[in-house]
Amino acid sequence: MLTSADPDSILIQGPRIVDPGRGMDAIGDILITGGKIVSAGPRLSPADLPEGCRPIPANGMVAAPGFIDLHCHLREPGYEYKETIATGTRAAARGGFTSICCMPNTDPPLDNEAAVALVQQRARAEGVVRVFPIGCVTKGRRGKELAELEELAAAGVVAYSDDGDPVYDPNLMRLALTYTLDLGLPISNHCQEHRLCPGGVMAEGWAATRLGLPGIPAAAEEAMIARDLALAELTGGWLHLAHLSTAGAVALVRQARERGVSVTTEVCPHHLSLTDDWALGYQGTPDGGSGPLNYDTSTKVYPPLRGRQDVDALIEGLADGVIDCIATDHAPHEAASKQVTYQEAAFGISVFETALGSLMALVHRGQISLSTLVDRLTVGPARVLGPSFEELATLHPGSPADVVLFDPDLDWVVDTGEFASKGRNTPLEGVALKGRVVTTFVEGKVVHQDSLY
Ligand code: NCD
Repeated sequence: MLTSADPDSILIQGPRIVDPGRGMDAIGDILITGGKIVSAGPRLSPADLPEGCRPIPANGMVAAPGFIDLHCHLREPGYEYKETIATGTRAAARGGFTSICCMPNTDPPLDNEAAVALVQQRARAEGVVRVFPIGCVTKGRRGKELAELEELAAAGVVAYSDDGDPVYDPNLMRLALTYTLDLGLPISNHCQEHRLCPGGVMAEGWAATRLGLPGIPAAAEEAMIARDLALAELTGGWLHLAHLSTAGAVALVRQARERGVSVTTEVCPHHLSLTDDWALGYQGTPDGGSGPLNYDTSTKVYPPLRGRQDVDALIEGLADGVIDCIATDHAPHEAASKQVTYQEAAFGISVFETALGSLMALVHRGQISLSTLVDRLTVGPARVLGPSFEELATLHPGSPADVVLFDPDLDWVVDTGEFASKGRNTPLEGVALKGRVVTTFVEGKVVHQDSLY
C-alpha cells in the first residue's frame, strides 16, 4: 500500500486492460507512480491509493502497453520539409506509439556514429516518444560496401536496413547476415527485385492496366525474399523481412519457419486493409471511377497495395503468428510530391495517425482478436528488438509507464487537417474509421490527449 502524497501518481480507472505479455485481458485499474507501473490488474480500493493521486476515468476504453513501431521515416536530417523528429514523434503519440524505430534513408544517411548521435540528440531535445535509430547496411545506402556495422551497434542502432532500397548484392547480404551472429541485431531488408519491375509504380494487375501504368509483380518481392531466406539458412544470421505484401511471401516465410530459419517479419496497416483498386481514386468502392479523382497518388507506396487474396493471406499470417508484428512504414511526404502524375509521385503513405483505426476494422470484423492485435503492436516488435525492449511491451509492475488508452468503438472520419505529421499523404482522407487513440503516456507523462475527450 502507498500512503505518501505523490503528485505524479495517476490512476487509470476501469479500462479493459489488454496486456498480452502477461496473458491479461480484463477490466481493472492501472496505478502509475514516478513514471512506473505500480499495478495493472484488479480494481483498487481507495485505501490502496497514494494521496493526491489523479484519477483518469476510462470506462469503456482499452488500456494497453504503448505501441512499438519497428519501421518509420522521420526524415531528419535532410528532409525536414516532409517531417521532423518533433512532428513525427507527435504523430506517433497521436497514433498510440510510444517507441519508434526510424529508418536511415535520410540525408546524410545514418551510416556512421555521428549521424546516429544527431538523431538521438534531436529526439531527446524535441521528441515526445522514444526514438531508436536504425543504421544503414551499406555505406551511403549505395549497396557497394558494408557500413561500419560494429561502430553503428556501439552508437546504439537497433537494426540495420537500406530501406527504400534492398541490399541488391547477394554476397553483401550474405556477409551482413553473417555479421548479425556477433552483432545480435537483425538486417531488415526491403525486398524487391527491381529488375523484375523496371519503372513499376503499382501492383501488376487489372487496376494498373486500366490506368496504363507499369506494374510490380508479386514475384519481384517473392524472388528476393526467397534469396534472403536461403542466405539466412546458409549463414544462420538474423533476417528481418520488412513490409510483407503478397500471399506468396507469407507462404515462403511459413515454410522457412518450419525449417527453423531465423527470420522475423512485419506487415503494414495499409497492406492489411487496402487493395490496388484504391489507386483508381474512389477509395475502394465497387462502382468504379465515379469518385472525385481519376487516380489517387496517395495510394502509391513501396511495396504496392495488392489484391484481396494477398490482403487475406497477410491477415491470416498475422493472426497465426507467421508475421510477428505490425510496423507502420510511416512515410510522410510534402504535398507537391504527390500533386503530380501517378508515375512521378513519391512512394509512401503517412500512417501513424490512422494505424489503429484501420487495424481495428480487423477486430470489428472478427478476423483477429483484440489481444492478438495488441500483441502484434507490442510483444511482437519487442521480440524483434531483443530482451531490453521486453519491459516496454508490458504493463508489468515496475515497467516504465508507456501506456495507450483507446476507445475501440469511437466512429470518426479522417481529417488530415488534424494531423500532427507534416505528411498528409493518406488515401484515408475523409474515410470513416472505428477506434481512436484517446491518451498516450510515456513514462507516466501525457504526450497526447485527444481533442474529442
Ligand atoms: C519509403 C520512404 O518514403 O522513405 N516509401 C515507401 O513507399 N514505403 C521508402 C521505401 O520503403 O521505399
